[in-house]
Amino acid sequence: MKVISEIKDYDLKNAKVLVRVDYDVKMENGKVISDNRMKASLDTIKYLREKGAKLILMSHLGRPDGKVVKEMSLLTVAEHLSELLGVNVSFAPDIMSDQTEKMIDNLDNGDVLLLENLRYYAGEEGNDEKFAKRLASFASIYVNDAFATSHRAHASMDAVPRILGNNYAGFQLQREVENLSKVTDNPKRPLVAIIGGKKVSDKVKVLENFLKFVDIILVGGGAANVFLASQDYEIGDSFVEDDLLDFADDLLSKAESAGVQIIIPSDVVVAKKVAEGQKTEIKDITELDRDDIIVDIGPETVESFKEPIEFAGTIVWNGPLGIFEYENFKKGNDEVAGLIVDSGAYTLIGGGDTIAGLPKGLKEKYSYISTAGGATLDFLAGKKLPGVEAVK
Ligand code: 3PG
Repeated sequence: MKVISEIKDYDLKNAKVLVRVDYDVKMENGKVISDNRMKASLDTIKYLREKGAKLILMSHLGRPDGKVVKEMSLLTVAEHLSELLGVNVSFAPDIMSDQTEKMIDNLDNGDVLLLENLRYYAGEEGNDEKFAKRLASFASIYVNDAFATSHRAHASMDAVPRILGNNYAGFQLQREVENLSKVTDNPKRPLVAIIGGKKVSDKVKVLENFLKFVDIILVGGGAANVFLASQDYEIGDSFVEDDLLDFADDLLSKAESAGVQIIIPSDVVVAKKVAEGQKTEIKDITELDRDDIIVDIGPETVESFKEPIEFAGTIVWNGPLGIFEYENFKKGNDEVAGLIVDSGAYTLIGGGDTIAGLPKGLKEKYSYISTAGGATLDFLAGKKLPGVEAVK
């Protein structure tokens, strides 16, 4: 990997550096409520500032699909970054406007500017050359410090570094690759993967590759709904992507042939509505009504996860097992979080939501917390990540 610390001082002084960060952070009532991804980028930002570079940061937030969605603006994130850095971070609200060029031209050495949400522009996800040229025109050096988005062949990850050709890995990206390599290169076995969360389609597909190197897969959260529905269990009003059902069913058969155990919930916590203070009920997976919504794994399921976790040599966890944002929907998730800490295994936790959903005081107790979700899974599954390839 071509790392940022290799850049010579004279290269950085006065240089405009385009830094891809992942500030796809959790927001509530217009405030950043989980800023670990932002904190993870500070080393790189501080290093570049100290060397006298002019920083143009770029990120996405959420999935606005090429349109301006006010709630997904990065303005609040720029303000939060100013607080974290203790320096003013300016904000360019329209990447395509002349005003942005002026702002960039006026940057002094050490100044930091954040561009508005890249995904407001269809060219980002389309990996569009024209959009990429626009971004590339802002700087002469590219740094990728957004490991969490590195599995996306989007303009800011792929086309921009191809155009600039002077590309480096930031410190967070390096840390991620080093720590994830500990799991891929000769892990201590049994290797247990725990999969949950909402972004199901990306994960379920990657699990096929997981069959080649993990010993046991425990499934909860939104990911479990697909497996349960594929086995014809009634999952009520719970979220499920129907087009994945055959795939999930097939995966269960493949796992059996490969000798990989996949444990799906045998009981769940259900509610009638996803809202604070809702009444919940624990139900066997055969007993759900059509208006039930699965909000967490049940106690029997936690029990079934216990032994594999206790005996694991390595544990990889991605995706919350309950709707942790609500107090009543997170007991199972929290219990598993505790079991993982107590296991004594090498424990790697990944994903913005997984981390945001960790019970207080546990975060520091895992071997490594990755800022990434889908990217972690793809990396572990042996896929080439466009954002990592770009800085090789
Ligand atoms: C993430 O949260 O995993 C990254 O920011 C990538 O987001 P995406 O899944 O919307 O591409």
